[in-house]
Amino acid sequence: MLLLPKTSQLPDDPILGLIPLYNQDPRPEKMNLAIGGYKDGNGLPVVMNAVRKAELALYEQHLNKEYLPIDGDPLFRSETIKLIFGQDSSLIPANSIHCAQTIGASGALTVGAEFLKELNIHSIAISDPTWTNHSSLFHHAGLQITEYSYYDRITHEINFEKMCDSINRLPQGTAILLQTCCHNPTGCDPTEEQWEYLSSLIDDRGLFPFFDCAYQGFDRGIAEDTRGIRIFTKKNIPLCIAYSYSKNFGLYGERVGALCTITGNSDSIEVRSHINRLIRGNYSSPPLQGARIVTTILTNPELKNEWNIQLDQMRERIYTMRLSLADKLAKKISEDFDFVKKQRGMFGFIKTNPDQIMALREQYGIYMPLSGRISIPGLTEHNIDAFVDALKNVF
Ligand code: LMR
Repeated sequence: MLLLPKTSQLPDDPILGLIPLYNQDPRPEKMNLAIGGYKDGNGLPVVMNAVRKAELALYEQHLNKEYLPIDGDPLFRSETIKLIFGQDSSLIPANSIHCAQTIGASGALTVGAEFLKELNIHSIAISDPTWTNHSSLFHHAGLQITEYSYYDRITHEINFEKMCDSINRLPQGTAILLQTCCHNPTGCDPTEEQWEYLSSLIDDRGLFPFFDCAYQGFDRGIAEDTRGIRIFTKKNIPLCIAYSYSKNFGLYGERVGALCTITGNSDSIEVRSHINRLIRGNYSSPPLQGARIVTTILTNPELKNEWNIQLDQMRERIYTMRLSLADKLAKKISEDFDFVKKQRGMFGFIKTNPDQIMALREQYGIYMPLSGRISIPGLTEHNIDAFVDALKNVF
């Protein structure tokens, strides 16, 4: 019999590893401030109205369950390009952009990273800090990982000078991961002027921008939130985009995303042949239902409008909670928490250390990753005071 080495037990995932712990916690007052998922004003998960209607419409069509093409449904792919680039999509020649449907943005990050190696790019720089899974995905895809400076833990803002300084030191031919908006985990994004500056810097340095676009609609709105990407494409800078429909359509578990690629000197048919080979050799072809839901909504003006309105309401609720949290923290803890108001999207840090986070978990059933990131949508008018009181007690 083959004697296998004994495997050691690895630590749980810092974010998704908290799901079973939270689910098993019997305390009714428990709070999930860990996972980046939208919750309504009662703390409950939301299936968007347009999604329910699209599901019903799809059910009534009695569609078959045949395989999709390797890079997904053509209509889904063209709608995704329109959503990211808006009116400007007509400025991008159709033969220079390729979009493949993927298993969430994580699938896009993985396939994108593998494609980078085919372009002779073997390393990627990620922001310090970034979503904890970025390094894992890129590591497994075989890229070398380096970091560039991003968040200043004292001012709670981007240290732009330091950021540019470290980008300036990256070797030519390195990919650089940029989050389009609502940076996970800091909630701090470059301004429009900073995006302009970054696009020139990255282009001049010969770096390859890889955008992670997971929160379109959660900063200012669908049209505004991809402004960073559009600044790069106006300058004809080659890039990749890993796009997620998890948050803005609430399709988390459906795993629906896309990988868009503009390489400049290869046309989309050539790029497609490479991406298709990578997908086929990885998970073969993408799943049906999530993409069908998205396409049904985006191609139906009434459903699209309903989706957009509800997305606006979700963004507003998060923002209201953000303002309320900053004010309540400042009152209870007598420190400045104004930076919380400036951060955008679902996440941010609120000056907690791992001991305090463990105390919140053990004493109050409040779940946050040990990094100190808070997922604001987990707060409601009903639990926010209890959260602030608990935080004061462990401070
Ligand atoms: C998060 O950051 O909480 C989400 O993107 C969920 C995940 O996969 O980590």
